[in-house]
Amino acid sequence: MKQNVSIHFLTISTITLLFSINIVMAAAPNKAKIMADACLTCHGPNGAGSGKIPELNGLEKSDITESLFGFKSGDEKSTIMGRYAKALSDDEINMLAEYFASLDK
Ligand code: HEC
Repeated sequence: MKQNVSIHFLTISTITLLFSINIVMAAAPNKAKIMADACLTCHGPNGAGSGKIPELNGLEKSDITESLFGFKSGDEKSTIMGRYAKALSDDEINMLAEYFASLDK
């Protein structure tokens, strides 16, 4: 009987754990999408670019991180992006770059 109870507990813990892993995995792309929406006001729908503002979809992840880290450090000159990039953490830059690189052109 005692053994039954602990097996039951183990099952519930496993289910709870699997469920939380699912939530964590689902949360990351959502955060990227929410943050990316702020970029789209300038970079156009789906990151396709708009007027003089360059496109973001169709770029490699490494191109995007290179630009954003450059803007952040000031090594890459910009009119606007320096201000935005400075507000992003390194993790956020990687996450956004991955997101935009995943978009279809
Ligand atoms: C207010 C308008 C605006 C917003 C908002 C904006 N950008 Fe930009 N972005 C620009 C402009 C303009 C450039 C060209 C460089 C410059 O002059 O700042 C640019 C350039 C870039 C580049 C370089 C692209 C290339 O091919 O050289 C990347 C990458 C980029 N932006 C990513 C982002 C991300 C990610 C966000 C959201 C966090 C974002 N931008 C939000 C206006 C904007």
